[in-house]
Amino acid sequence: MIWVLTLSFCLTCCVLGDIDPCLDGNFELLDSPGLRGGACKMQAGNVICDRSIRNGWYKVIHEDDFEHRQMMEGIVSPNYCGTSNPIWLNGTHPVAADGIVNRTACVVGIHGYCSKEYDIQIKACGENEYVYYLIKAESCNEGYCFGVNLPCAKPNPCEEGNSIKMDVKEDRSTSCKEKSMSMCDNSLKHGWYRIQRNGVDMKMPTTCVDQYSCGTVSPIWLSENEQTTKLWEYILAAVAGIIVLFIIVSIVSYILFKKTLRLKKIQCDKKFQEPKKQSQLEIQ
Ligand SMILES: *[C@@H]1O[C@H](CO)[C@@H](O)[C@H](O)[C@H]1NC(C)=O
Ligand SMILES: *[C@@H]1O[C@H](CO)[C@@H](O)[C@H](O)[C@H]1NC(C)=O
Repeated sequence: MIWVLTLSFCLTCCVLGDIDPCLDGNFELLDSPGLRGGACKMQAGNVICDRSIRNGWYKVIHEDDFEHRQMMEGIVSPNYCGTSNPIWLNGTHPVAADGIVNRTACVVGIHGYCSKEYDIQIKACGENEYVYYLIKAESCNEGYCFGVNLPCAKPNPCEEGNSIKMDVKEDRSTSCKEKSMSMCDNSLKHGWYRIQRNGVDMKMPTTCVDQYSCGTVSPIWLSENEQTTKLWEYILAAVAGIIVLFIIVSIVSYILFKKTLRLKKIQCDKKFQEPKKQSQLEIQ
């Protein structure tokens, strides 16, 4: 009896009871989604190689907008998708009713756009949301392509290594009014800077700075955008105006409505009285 139960349990498990790869805990997130776009050229020092992944279910969620990315349907040129040998989907994405489908992924290589093939699986989890059973790449640098025509994501300047650290002393301070100093920033490289003094982040002044301060003749300060606040003020004023106008119109029309009602009532009363008089006259 127990043997039969165990057997039937196993059968249900193995045949029907496959876990749903769409559900949390049953998939992993594929790394570096921001570099896998079809228009993202391979970046030296940051090349994707999916030989480091393991066979399994993956979702691809972009780090900037937290949107799901789809695997590229159609060929990709070498050296795009953040790698030298992009892997693309030779086929189409399924709809939810299809369940898990088998598909072929092609590796771009020396023999053309389909130098090598991997058998992958796809399931639609929702609108524009898919989960992929990906196969570990055989060699570097092969990488799965996600995001049609998407450029590389911009590196987050807040993250370590994505900005230039500049240690400053008191001479860049607004309180430094040394007329003999003439620092010049014409040699600065364009880019993100993190300005620190003794390891503490410094802010740029947001009000006008005197000439001959900050260790230079012509200090540069941050003029915060007042136009956006002004625009918002205008919009708020317009909305408030419309509300006030609406209230006034409502009150006036209410008063007028009441007046006409009263007039009508008086006219009605008169009409009712007049025939009475006539009938009274007739009786007389
Ligand atoms: C997908 O491929 C596997 C073998 O790799 C096969 O067992 C399965 O039946 C296929 N599924 C479909 C829906 O064709
Ligand atoms: C895509 O797969 C089809 C077979 O389904 C094949 O005929 C075609 O050549 C493949 N595309 C490329 C670019 O290799």
